[in-house]
Amino acid sequence: MSELVKYSTRDGVAIITVDNPPVNALSTGVPAGILAALKTAEADATVQAVVLAAAGKTFIAGADINDFLNVVAGKAELPVLHPLLHALEDSRKPVVAAIHGMALGGGMEVAMACHYRVAVPDAQVGQPECKLGLIPGAGGTQRLPRLIGPLKAAELCAMGDPIPAPEAVQLGAVDQIIQGNLVDGAVAFAKSIANRPAHKTRELTAKLAGNHSAGFAALREQVRKAKRNLNAPQVAIDAVELSTTLSFAKGIEKEAELFKQCLRATEAQALIHAFFGDRTVAKIPDVPKDTQAFPVRNIAIIGAGTMGGGIAMAFANVGIPVRIKDTQEALDRCLANARRNYENSVKRGRYTKEVMEQRMSLITPQTSYDGFDHVDMIIEAAYESMPLKRQIYSELDKIARVDCVLATNTSTLDINEIAVATGRPQMVIGLHFFSPANAMRLVEIVRGSATSKEVIATAMAVAKALKKVGVLVRNGFGFVGNRMMFPYMYEAQFVVEEGATPEEVDRALAHFGMAMGIFSVDDLGGLDVAARIREEQHQFDKPGLRKPLASDKLVALGRLGQKAGKGWYLYDENRKQTPDLEVVALIRKTAAEAHIPQRTFTEAEIIERTLYGLINEGARILEDGTALRAVDIDVIYLNGYGFPAYRGGPMFYADTVGLKKIYDKICEFREQHGARWEPAPLLKRLAEQGKTFASFDAEKAAHA
Ligand code: 3HC
Repeated sequence: MSELVKYSTRDGVAIITVDNPPVNALSTGVPAGILAALKTAEADATVQAVVLAAAGKTFIAGADINDFLNVVAGKAELPVLHPLLHALEDSRKPVVAAIHGMALGGGMEVAMACHYRVAVPDAQVGQPECKLGLIPGAGGTQRLPRLIGPLKAAELCAMGDPIPAPEAVQLGAVDQIIQGNLVDGAVAFAKSIANRPAHKTRELTAKLAGNHSAGFAALREQVRKAKRNLNAPQVAIDAVELSTTLSFAKGIEKEAELFKQCLRATEAQALIHAFFGDRTVAKIPDVPKDTQAFPVRNIAIIGAGTMGGGIAMAFANVGIPVRIKDTQEALDRCLANARRNYENSVKRGRYTKEVMEQRMSLITPQTSYDGFDHVDMIIEAAYESMPLKRQIYSELDKIARVDCVLATNTSTLDINEIAVATGRPQMVIGLHFFSPANAMRLVEIVRGSATSKEVIATAMAVAKALKKVGVLVRNGFGFVGNRMMFPYMYEAQFVVEEGATPEEVDRALAHFGMAMGIFSVDDLGGLDVAARIREEQHQFDKPGLRKPLASDKLVALGRLGQKAGKGWYLYDENRKQTPDLEVVALIRKTAAEAHIPQRTFTEAEIIERTLYGLINEGARILEDGTALRAVDIDVIYLNGYGFPAYRGGPMFYADTVGLKKIYDKICEFREQHGARWEPAPLLKRLAEQGKTFASFDAEKAAHA
């Protein structure tokens, strides 16, 4: 038959098996292969019914997303699945989709064109296209409402989350759960229905009846809040609603039109970039996939502060036992926090009390190094002090097994200097978790100059085991994320000293899509923390460099941020933030004393002044190799800094604006504001050559 689609028969039932690893995407050759196999089954008089199954870990996980990128790049025509779907639906012999793993997107659309769907209990089905900025494009918005009703279908298409097979049975999207061997069960099911008239999903109408307009209006509102600033989820609702007013044929036509509009929009390109980005960061050119990682079955943490406690919870959440060492007082506080956090999740119905107790039981508090000689990894999350860390590492050197990975959670200190405090710098690596570490998805994995490839592979595997995204970066102040954040944060402070208010800046950033404005972020992190870093790193010692002035005054007034109830904003006991006129007055007075001319700012100007500084630093980071690729920077900003996914991350965003435009603006800023706006050489080069950061990544990959 075909390499990608296998055909066999058993007991009068044809079995068509899609075999396109790793996820059985509907790549070129797969739809044609299924179609050819279906024709064979139809032509075989001994075949009464057909089972459509898939090999490997999952049923069909959707259209091949790479095909969409080729369409946008003008390299290919949009693949159209309708001929296959119609052939399945019009088959004279009943077709049963046998689902294991995931039936997603185009995979679910194929399954819905079959006459029946059976699934194993832990299978999941869904239409996740909106997570890629798309809508279902092969009949999903028209067949799903015919199976489960328009409102539920619109909700699934707009939210994009898959549902478990048992729920799909209740809703009517799946006909039967198969216990035991799926294909055996599907064949038995196919035989049992072989003589029944098979219904075509597209001809079902019962669930479309009634007036759903109020339901659609309410859903649109709910989705507007849940999917802030996103277009595709709203379009998905529009498309599903059309199933209630148009014929199936017209609905499909309209769906195709809307799909194409979504595909061409920046939202889809950005979200597809983010999807592949999450997977690209796992690929490290000099650490091949088969590099032997050390097993990590248990760990120990030094330091039970906010970070240490969050890290302990992250490991306990995935069933890995943790020892955590600190003073008794710190441990008591840490465990109480963990319990409160878990209890809140139980209250919200995220898991049961038993699960909570099980997780708590995996965390062993201790004031000594007992058992540290048995663990596979030790994570140091102590106070940010080099002498303290060096002392801890020299102690660990005597205790830890030779194959124990020694990780530091430092966010500001030099990994190499920490590593040389041990006799085994090759075993030392940075694991920069983000607060709260039990919830935040990002881990910057910092390689020191001596870190071994096996230790890097171990750290990447640990991030994956924790269900986080690990991004490998090189050692250097602030690594990638924080190094880029400083110019962004200080430029925002300069903008307020020139006449804007913190609220105006944060509002512009919120409208841009940032999860939090930079002044809110500073309040969360602590103004004193930023002040300490400013001083320790001598960030403004260079003569002629403009210094932010107001933040030091706020620190002197004890306005340290959220923890003090006041910083750039005021906070009530529930940490609700309100603007503070006193802060604005203080900024104005400071500006007047420093003779800083005052003006008003548009939102567009605020975005350029703040984010272009961040992008400029990103270009430097790319050129000096601190980040492997532009996409790695994007993944860091999407997962650790609240950058909106529909803009693809700062470097992708820069490409969409145009590097020439950004470079020109930065040159203009240099004229107005001085040397801090010196354009990064890489940005200048790419802009002058009419290239993008993405092209830089592609060229680098080609030479790897
Ligand atoms: N197209 C192309 N490649 C895909 C793909 C797809 N639909 N889905 C996954 N892949 C690739 C990944 O990029 C990865 O490649 P790599 O090994 O080179 O990095 C590989 O398959 C394995 O994927 P994961 O690492 O994600 O594997 P997991 O086991 O962790 O997850 C999954 C499996 C849940 C299926 C996850 O891959 C996923 O969510 N895939 C996307 C599903 C999706 O969005 N489907 C809809 C597509 S759009 C569509 O169908 C339009 C239609 O309406 C016309």
